Amino acid sequence: MRYAIRASFFDFTSRVDDVTFASQHARYIEDGLLLINQGKIDALFEWQNRDQSPQWHDYTLYDLRGKLIMPGFIDTHIHFPQIGMVGSWGEQLLEWLEEYTFPAESEYQNTAFAEQMASTFLEQCLENGTTSALIFGSVHPGATEALFAAAEQREMRIIAGKVMMDRFVPEALCEEVSESYQQTKQLIERWHNKGRLHYALTPRFAPTSTPALLSAVSQLKREYPDVWIQTHLSENPQEIAWVNELFPEHHNYLAVYHHYALTGPKSVFAHCLHLEESEWQCLAETESSISFCPTSNLFLGSGLFNLRKAHQHKVNIGMGTDIGAGTSFSILRTLSEAYKVQQLQHYSLTVAEAYYHATLGGAVSLSLDDKIGSFMPGKEADFIVIDFAVTPLQTLRQSRCRDIWERLFVLMTLGDERNIRQTWVNGRCAFQRHEMHA
Ligand code: GUN
Ligand code: ZN
Repeated sequence: MRYAIRASFFDFTSRVDDVTFASQHARYIEDGLLLINQGKIDALFEWQNRDQSPQWHDYTLYDLRGKLIMPGFIDTHIHFPQIGMVGSWGEQLLEWLEEYTFPAESEYQNTAFAEQMASTFLEQCLENGTTSALIFGSVHPGATEALFAAAEQREMRIIAGKVMMDRFVPEALCEEVSESYQQTKQLIERWHNKGRLHYALTPRFAPTSTPALLSAVSQLKREYPDVWIQTHLSENPQEIAWVNELFPEHHNYLAVYHHYALTGPKSVFAHCLHLEESEWQCLAETESSISFCPTSNLFLGSGLFNLRKAHQHKVNIGMGTDIGAGTSFSILRTLSEAYKVQQLQHYSLTVAEAYYHATLGGAVSLSLDDKIGSFMPGKEADFIVIDFAVTPLQTLRQSRCRDIWERLFVLMTLGDERNIRQTWVNGRCAFQRHEMHA
């Protein structure tokens, strides 16, 4: 139950309000000792200062010198029922939903199948170093139950919700408002704040929601003010035109959600690629967060997320894989694509900023930064053990790096799940690649 781990450590010790200065909040300890007790971080200090905490002798020591340990990655937008359709060819958002997504999600009506996939899905997260995520379920309550049960078994801190949708979807996926409300309510009662689990109200997006459905979501948020809300916003030009047609009484896409009081500090909007100035302002004023999903945005040809604009408006950002429009569970790969998306807009994403969004910044955007995202004492021990180099090219390139920033940049540019040696959840090793010498 009590572990002392010797390795190199990297994290951010406090939240960053201006990402230009992210590196000033970073901590790198080349030779450190992390103490974990009952699933929580006790302390992190330099190896040479270890006797400041003489009780470390009573902890089980793991010598992982040569490895880098950082907080587990936080995926702020991912779809559980889309794992089986990643990499589906040829369509942009609306056709892609019809052609691939809805048929794939229909399979989750079968709860036995959903149970099997819930394990596969969470194992993929862990194998990629993701310890927490904000997750879309399918419309079926049984599938979301299966996901929560599988996360509970693994002691993972996840936020998830059953999708709500009541129009423009195939018959088999279309709900009545009252049933959507009732089923969501039951799931909240059963799972919200149970151990490390939390509930997110999950209206798919405005086009598949009637005003009555959005009112029901609003009603649930009033009844359970501390639940999260997740949805999609301003991803694709046809989608936006459709929203304008469906909701002519609202002056833009976000105004629809805002009208139903679905904006706020616990609301996370995926994508946000084509926002108007007033939408940026509304996100800022309501303290809503954005999930930046570069592999998805490139794969569906949706557009380029404007990170600079998000900073100007001081809107919190987390990274999202958006599986299955996104093409990888790996947050390292996602950061690599994020860098390229910003390069296309002449903004050079710094290494510090990139890893901040993937760890503590993601936790801030999910309002979970009091619990996860760094190695501060009292936080939950969710972390990853990283191999800097697992291929000949990575070995060559890493050998030529001059400092930790270069090493971290090469890690995110050339790295992927193969660099994740171990993933620890709530103070125990939940995934291990190959042999490990303890
Ligand atoms: N908009 C509405 N539903 C979806 C979805 O499943 N994936 C993505 N990327 N965008 C959406
Ligand atoms: Zn999505």
